[in-house]
Amino acid sequence: MIEVEKLSKSFGDLNAVDDISFVAKPGEIFGLLGPNGAGKSTAINCISGLVSSDDGRIDINGYNINNQAVKAKQSLGLVPQELALYDDLSAHENLVFWGSAYGLGGKQLENRIQEVLKDVGLNTRQKEPVKQFSGGMKRRLNFACAILHKPAALLLDEPTVGVDPQSREHLLQATLKLKEEGTAVIYTTHYMEEAERLCDHLVIMDQGKVIASGSIEQLRQQVGERDLITLLGHYSQLDKQENIEALGAEVLEYCDNEIRILIPEASKCLTSVLEVANQLGKVNQVNIQQANLESLFIKLTGRALRDAA
Ligand SMILES: Nc1ncnc2c1ncn2[C@@H]1O[C@H](COP(=O)(O)OP(=O)(O)OP(=O)(O)O)[C@@H](O)[C@H]1O
Ligand SMILES: [Mg+2]
Repeated sequence: MIEVEKLSKSFGDLNAVDDISFVAKPGEIFGLLGPNGAGKSTAINCISGLVSSDDGRIDINGYNINNQAVKAKQSLGLVPQELALYDDLSAHENLVFWGSAYGLGGKQLENRIQEVLKDVGLNTRQKEPVKQFSGGMKRRLNFACAILHKPAALLLDEPTVGVDPQSREHLLQATLKLKEEGTAVIYTTHYMEEAERLCDHLVIMDQGKVIASGSIEQLRQQVGERDLITLLGHYSQLDKQENIEALGAEVLEYCDNEIRILIPEASKCLTSVLEVANQLGKVNQVNIQQANLESLFIKLTGRALRDAA
């Protein structure tokens, strides 16, 4: 269990994390979702004790990160955003190093090393020096190092950024296995689809603050059973938003090169939408997708995740 209550952390005038609270329960993957600079890593670093928080309470497995730091940290595994590996050592040697740091040794450590290498799909490459590994393989090894001591709580900071699809799948599967084994997992990402696939509960962060929280289902309900239509093009009549709203659409974004709307049953009303859009300018490209957490983020912030930084 990871309990975070009223956590705040500033760097000078910047409120990197501003009064956030949540609980990640055993057997649950809890998502921290947000664009670059949202404060995800700062929150993770405070929870792991790497960075001291300004305010708030953090308990890991019932142990306070400040007053009972040793016990709290023994219950915790951390997969940092930056890799923490020795390039000249083999994968196996890296794991021995980390295992010893956790106080593991002998047959018990060796068995566990073989187990985690299998989980991340690196058992056949364990003797190779890490410098020969691809970025995705290094990320998988980084993950393996963090779970060697079977922590009750695990912090994953964007574990799949920049990895190949095969490594990504290994990491997602290994995370789901930990959940089944009862680990409380905090998973940060700016990939909406990853959060939707993995997380039981999540908070969406922006500029240090929680802007939405709940189960995936509860968050989806905020956008409702609607589709997201994106119309790329050139629009001149920016004061005529009501023409689109008259079709029963909620306008999420309307600027000179993009219109985004939420609307029920997009395929049935696409002709009317295009007709109106063409009166407002010129449509070059149309995209329809099921409303998802990305749509919710746009709805709440007025910005798409990709250009939110
Ligand atoms: N050590 C630091 N000193 C000063 N500012 C910092 C420091 N660490 C983070 N920040 C600032 O705090 C804000 C939040 O950064 P943070 O790294 O927590 O975001 P993030 O959500 O993890 O982003 P990303 O998706 O890019 O990893 C940013 O504006 C960042 O520049
Ligand atoms: Mg980060």
